[in-house]
Amino acid sequence: MGEYLIIHASRTGETQKIAELIAEGIRIAGHNATLKKGNEIKTEADLKGFDGYAFGSATYHGDMISTMKQVLFMAERAELENRPGGAFGAFGWSADATQRIFGTMEHIFKMKMTSSPLMLKASGLEGAITMAQDYGKELTRL
Ligand SMILES: Cc1cc2nc3c(=O)[nH]c(=O)nc-3n(C[C@H](O)[C@H](O)[C@H](O)COP(=O)(O)O)c2cc1C
Repeated sequence: MGEYLIIHASRTGETQKIAELIAEGIRIAGHNATLKKGNEIKTEADLKGFDGYAFGSATYHGDMISTMKQVLFMAERAELENRPGGAFGAFGWSADATQRIFGTMEHIFKMKMTSSPLMLKASGLEGAITMAQDYGKELTRL
């Protein structure tokens, strides 16, 4: 059974709901999922020891929430190379945060990434529950 860490940065709760659905998908696939808010990660040691990771932030003003930036700086030192990874985040129109998190995980951390980031505007949209759960399942198959 794999252990997966999902970290989210959310202002009004949408990204957190998406994170919870990804965790459900991981659990449906028979694995453990730990959910944390970005500000609960204090050092790179908090990131070590998992079989896979999903990092998510909502987009505000074309950018990710600052706690997720701090998480990514810590992740740089957490030796995540070749670990399964995914990125997600609620957005309105541009989803810059989701794409930048995905790119950093792929190009800087050199993680084994899902086929694409989870581009979901909100958890309540039609099909969103299945899409987010399937994303969690995909992470466990990498
Ligand atoms: C002040 C403000 C700025 C925003 N800027 C962007 C943006 O640049 N690009 C985008 O795609 N969405 C933008 N949004 C939309 C949010 O990403 C969207 O409301 C999202 O659902 C918030 O997720 P959260 O509940 O996890 O915080 C903005 C929203 C607000 C209120």
